[in-house]
Amino acid sequence: MSITLITGASRGVGEALAWKLASEGHTVAALARSEDKLQELAGRAQAEELPGTIIACPVDLRDPAVVSECVNSLEEKGPIEVLINNAAVVQNIPFAEQSLERLDAIVDSNLKGTMYCTHAVLQHMIPRKAGRIVNISSVAGVRGIAGQASYCASKHGMVGFADALTQELVPHNIQVATICPGAIDTPLWDPEKNPYPGDISKTIQPSEIVNLVCYLLTQPDHSIFKRIVMFPTNEWH
Ligand SMILES: NC(=O)c1ccc[n+]([C@@H]2O[C@H](COP(=O)([O-])OP(=O)(O)OC[C@H]3O[C@@H](n4cnc5c(N)ncnc54)[C@H](OP(=O)(O)O)[C@@H]3O)[C@@H](O)[C@H]2O)c1
Repeated sequence: MSITLITGASRGVGEALAWKLASEGHTVAALARSEDKLQELAGRAQAEELPGTIIACPVDLRDPAVVSECVNSLEEKGPIEVLINNAAVVQNIPFAEQSLERLDAIVDSNLKGTMYCTHAVLQHMIPRKAGRIVNISSVAGVRGIAGQASYCASKHGMVGFADALTQELVPHNIQVATICPGAIDTPLWDPEKNPYPGDISKTIQPSEIVNLVCYLLTQPDHSIFKRIVMFPTNEWH
């Protein structure tokens, strides 16, 4: 039994990915901070008798010791074959007005959380000479967006990290792909705290990201999809 570890799986894209992969018979480790949501997701997968399993992993990615402990205990159940770095937080605010606490939360969750999780998983993937890593960055990882300076910094960081890592990992037969989407119709766009400036129904649906990830995961080892930029037609990036 191999494991697909998905970060940020309590809602949005990560939840949709966890559900799809479990529906296809995979064992999915669903990681996020909200234990209640993860338990509900795992329970629903069991109640609906999906062919695969969802394991709830309540973890804050900002704590490297807890991340490493989670990865090591999953490895006792089975090899982590796939890591999907998807978790993120965002705040739309002019940079000078952002609190340092919020700045830290964004960079630590999105960039350092991705690095901590990848570091922990590679300790197991490299000796096996097998593995796939998919990063969900953003168009904010390939261009600047006013009002999202910290988020852009974290998402650009993910792209640079992945570029370097991909080269390092080729000899170890581990592929790294990075997806940079524009707006997706998920709870990230909270109508009260963080409204989407437009018609949210015209943006990318989570299922489209899910289909793209599934496509990437079924491609041969000798092909690398370094970076895929996609955005809805109501945005231009
Ligand atoms: N939605 C968009 O328009 C859009 C556009 C471009 C790129 N993206 C990217 O797509 C990915 C998925 O976004 P989404 O729209 O699905 O977002 P979302 O609905 O807000 O979900 C974010 C997920 O990340 C988890 N998370 C946040 N901080 C965490 C931490 N410190 N430790 C562990 N888990 C944490 C959240 O769970 P808890 O709160 O339970 O921890 C949640 O499961 C993100 O990387 C995002 O940057 C989204």
